[in-house]
Amino acid sequence: MTRVEGRVKVTGLATYAAEYPVEGVTYAYPVQSHIAKGRVTRVDTSRALDMPGVLGVLSIEDPPELAEDADAELALFQSRDVAYRGQLIAAAVADTYENARAAADAVRVSYEPADHDVSLRADHPGLYRPEVVNPNYPADTEQGDVEAGLAEAATTVDVTYTTPVLHNNPMEPHAALAVWAGDGRLLVYDSAQGASLDRDTIAKTLSLPPNRVRVVSRHVGGGFGSKGTTRPHAVLAALAARAVGRPVKVALTRQQMFDVTGYRTPTIQRLRLGADADGRLTALEHVAYEQSSTLVEFAEQTATPARVMYAAPALRTAHRLVRLDVATPSWMRAPGECPGMYALESAMDELAYAAGLDPVELRIRNEPQTEPESGLPFSSRNLVACLREGARRFGWDRRDPAPGVRREGEWLVGTGVAASTYPARRVPSKAVACVRNGDFLVQVAATDIGTGARTALTRIAADTLGVAPDRVHVELGDSDLPDAPVAGGSMGLASWGSAVVGACEELMKNGTEGRADTTGEIATDTRLARHAFGAQFAEVRVSAVTGEVRVSRLLGVFAAGHIVDATLARSQFIGGMTMGLGMALMEETHTDEEFGGFLRRDLAQYHVPACADVQHIEAMWLEEQDERLNPMGSKGIGEIGIVGTAAAIGNAVHHATGHRVRDLPITPAKIL
Ligand code: MOS
Repeated sequence: MTRVEGRVKVTGLATYAAEYPVEGVTYAYPVQSHIAKGRVTRVDTSRALDMPGVLGVLSIEDPPELAEDADAELALFQSRDVAYRGQLIAAAVADTYENARAAADAVRVSYEPADHDVSLRADHPGLYRPEVVNPNYPADTEQGDVEAGLAEAATTVDVTYTTPVLHNNPMEPHAALAVWAGDGRLLVYDSAQGASLDRDTIAKTLSLPPNRVRVVSRHVGGGFGSKGTTRPHAVLAALAARAVGRPVKVALTRQQMFDVTGYRTPTIQRLRLGADADGRLTALEHVAYEQSSTLVEFAEQTATPARVMYAAPALRTAHRLVRLDVATPSWMRAPGECPGMYALESAMDELAYAAGLDPVELRIRNEPQTEPESGLPFSSRNLVACLREGARRFGWDRRDPAPGVRREGEWLVGTGVAASTYPARRVPSKAVACVRNGDFLVQVAATDIGTGARTALTRIAADTLGVAPDRVHVELGDSDLPDAPVAGGSMGLASWGSAVVGACEELMKNGTEGRADTTGEIATDTRLARHAFGAQFAEVRVSAVTGEVRVSRLLGVFAAGHIVDATLARSQFIGGMTMGLGMALMEETHTDEEFGGFLRRDLAQYHVPACADVQHIEAMWLEEQDERLNPMGSKGIGEIGIVGTAAAIGNAVHHATGHRVRDLPITPAKIL
């Protein structure tokens, strides 16, 4: 199937949040903090209010009414305390975008600054163990005796990897358009990953019952996690519209996005591995250090993949967090699993070299029978099959393991492998299916963030109803439709699709309408470990002259349950792998130690891969039937593509050069 909304997208007819034509629309432009910590002593709005077209200025001097228990990142203009540089501390509202921006510029803010601390360090005195890590895992786990396992090992590695702050950078910047209707109901067109959740959060923040708020997100130009939770721009639009009595649009600039739409926490990760003479793990320890803000605790589940991946008689994972004067980190594609697997899979490569074993073979030797931490059986796993199939397709058996010995002119050539994993989740969702004009209408408040969700749901409904896909019309992206979870956590299609199947089956039974309200579990459910797996192979060429790394080949082989649509799935996988390439070689946001906040706040300096950076990329999958997941037998594929890619590339760089870079991104300066 081609994308059902493909035509409206390429002809420019697809309407995004900032584009809805609304009568009498006005614009709000934020004023951001210039200090990283301290207090706002005064916001002088007098000059701004005199400027042309200005309708008002919102600030702490006249705090808008908000729920007392609002999320601290969304509690706009409620406190004089500054938590990070770039925080929204005021906003000007005017008849045009330009007038609002000029007025925001004319707002004078006085501060009482305090000393800030924005640096994550593994020896930071403020580090603590969070109660749980996202979404609700224990922060620390331990079984067996790691010290004893390391002491008896024939080979050990003790290595530390670091990853930088990363920013999501979807193509469509965050934007919201808020309209208060005559009946007091609030309509927000928001670029968001989940209309139902966004509605609930906006309603809670404004102390409104959820049925007084409607969120519409029919088309969304990417999110990658940054639109998964409500962002301050949406609350600002609603508050400003309430204050001036007219619709208000807030469209963030790319630079503003770097400050207020979340980011991936930097990590410091220490791995200690021990293996016996046969390469079987005797101990595995993964400790992750991360940051959050002083406002909200966001504890990323970085070390959790180590609880899933390999059999080890002694296994310890731990997370330590420090609250800094920074914005709160948030979700970024495969939050936790992605940086965690970068470190674990790089360390496994180091262990393979230390033990004199092939890195594919090392992983196969440590394949567990059940999920290592929980002891639960896997619903399906197939990691070994992915490794074997990938090795066969990639030509791995011809590989000379010696690092730093293949040279073609100025180019050093190497190959690397890493495993991937991501949880296969499913949560409650509702859906309705009915007959309309002889065709079928399916309604669910799902969101298509560019992944092709609309198309996949059309296909699922058509398959269930036994009709051609062009007779099915799917309506989504509107919180007035049946409640549905976010497009996130790689669980969208599994959750929405289950409800759509249920609604379509119901419709077939009674002939006019079907409703489903799925719980997220299925009848045959037993306690199982549910994850997707994959194997990533990379070939790199490293210039001995400039240190430039080119990725000449990437191959991903995945075991992700039933693949609902091959074209869409391939795009998801190679999209994820391309982001992994960016993570390995390019992407990095610098924290400004002196002033707080971030440096490199645009796409000229925050580099993401372009087509020319992706020379040969291939994604494929094993046929996997796993009926204990959901009616489709599918596992999520939104995020697993990025997991492991950076490790495969880093491992290939080591194989090419003989040099191990343990600090991402692998830029030329770190190679030479
Ligand atoms: Mo994805 S980071 O779960 O939106």
